[in-house]
Amino acid sequence: MITHPNIDSPTTFEQRCIEASCSAAYSIGERIYVCPRCGGLLDIEAQYSQQPDAETLKRLWLNRKQSFVESDISGVWRFRDMLPFTTDVVPVSLREGNTPLYDAPRSATYCQIDSLQLKHQGANPTGSFKDTGMTVAVTQAVRLGARLVACASTGNTAASLAAYAARANLACAIMVPTGQISHAKLAQALDYGAKVLEIEGNFDSCMREIRILSDDGSLYLVNSINPFRIEGQKTVAFELAEQMNWQVPDHLVVPGGNLGNSSALGKGFRELHALGLVERMPRISVVQAAGAAPFARYFSEDRKSEFQDEANPQTLASAIKIGAPVSWKKALRAVDETSGQVLTVTEHEIADAKVIIGRDGIGCEPASATTVAGIRKLQASDFIKGSETVVALLTGHVLKDTDYVNKYHSDSLKAEGVGAISGSYRNPPVRVSGGLDELRSVLRQLASET
Ligand code: F0G
Repeated sequence: MITHPNIDSPTTFEQRCIEASCSAAYSIGERIYVCPRCGGLLDIEAQYSQQPDAETLKRLWLNRKQSFVESDISGVWRFRDMLPFTTDVVPVSLREGNTPLYDAPRSATYCQIDSLQLKHQGANPTGSFKDTGMTVAVTQAVRLGARLVACASTGNTAASLAAYAARANLACAIMVPTGQISHAKLAQALDYGAKVLEIEGNFDSCMREIRILSDDGSLYLVNSINPFRIEGQKTVAFELAEQMNWQVPDHLVVPGGNLGNSSALGKGFRELHALGLVERMPRISVVQAAGAAPFARYFSEDRKSEFQDEANPQTLASAIKIGAPVSWKKALRAVDETSGQVLTVTEHEIADAKVIIGRDGIGCEPASATTVAGIRKLQASDFIKGSETVVALLTGHVLKDTDYVNKYHSDSLKAEGVGAISGSYRNPPVRVSGGLDELRSVLRQLASET
């Protein structure tokens, strides 16, 4: 039993199998990733002896913003009353969370809606949304006495885990598909001191192998199949709701890869709703790249058939080049219960949407731009109305994949199975060789355009 003194009600947390036919419960101290009985995914569930008061929680979380205590400064641990730890927990933290929610007028115009807000998770310490989950998973690793933490990754999980493992002084191994992750993400993992294991194959093969390796307990696995990762990532829903003064948006749109993030946001809003902090949940929609879209395919079919993995996923948005998403059942639950959508966008649509997000002065990595490309489509199909409130979750920083950016602007972006992607908003550097006179004329021309 875990007691949260601030909300004055002893709370029990346990791990519970999400399969309705099983629902087995396990202690939070058990080092498991899926249900040992049936193999189902696990949720962390809280049982309150007395339901905490919504207004008390809101006040408490806001007050912590004025504190200098490490766990109050973190945008994840500020919400620790909802996390499976005691409130005096000493977290492994890099001051994650507290990310901006930006108005994005150019992106809104591009999507033909009145306004659009972008919640930028790329503003986290290692430049991606993974940090909000990793702080909790690595804190759990320390609680369990793990010595070695590990993950499979398309790059961002790797960078994040490497950083948090370094903070916690834990050995760290990451498994990545050779040549398929961005240079920036690889560079981060190397500098943070992780052992980077490059293997032949793709992310899905890395994931399969690391899960087998974790079976004997020699390493602690922190991919999003680990429910403690989801606990951290769910706090993004709390922070977003607070930033919107507890009025949830009509639509929340997120990219989909391994589907941990959509699962976590669903859980976060579900908990807020159950405790009466918000009146409803937003519609959660998930956007996948067309070449790596097993979830979108399953969603658009009648679902009578089994979920089919995509054997050979392809997209230049390398973060979401995933064909066997481990958390699809949790993501489906989030989309279904909020009447959201799952859709795909093309390589060209991703590339152009990314530049538009840049033109708002915000920027993001390719996977994140699926959201704005998706919102444009959802508006066109009338699922999103122009006057509705819409938030897109940007998952990674623009500097995460500069090769992609430079290729886009120099018109040399090519995708497997698609060919050349000639972007509509190219902005290549201009070579000026005529000295000051030519420079003046270029600048005059530029000034007259704005
Ligand atoms: N956006 C970015 C920038 C990502 O790095 C990822 C996943 C996603 C979106 C998809 O999120 O998997 O929760 O659906 N990256 C993982 C990694 C797989 O290893 O960094 P998801």
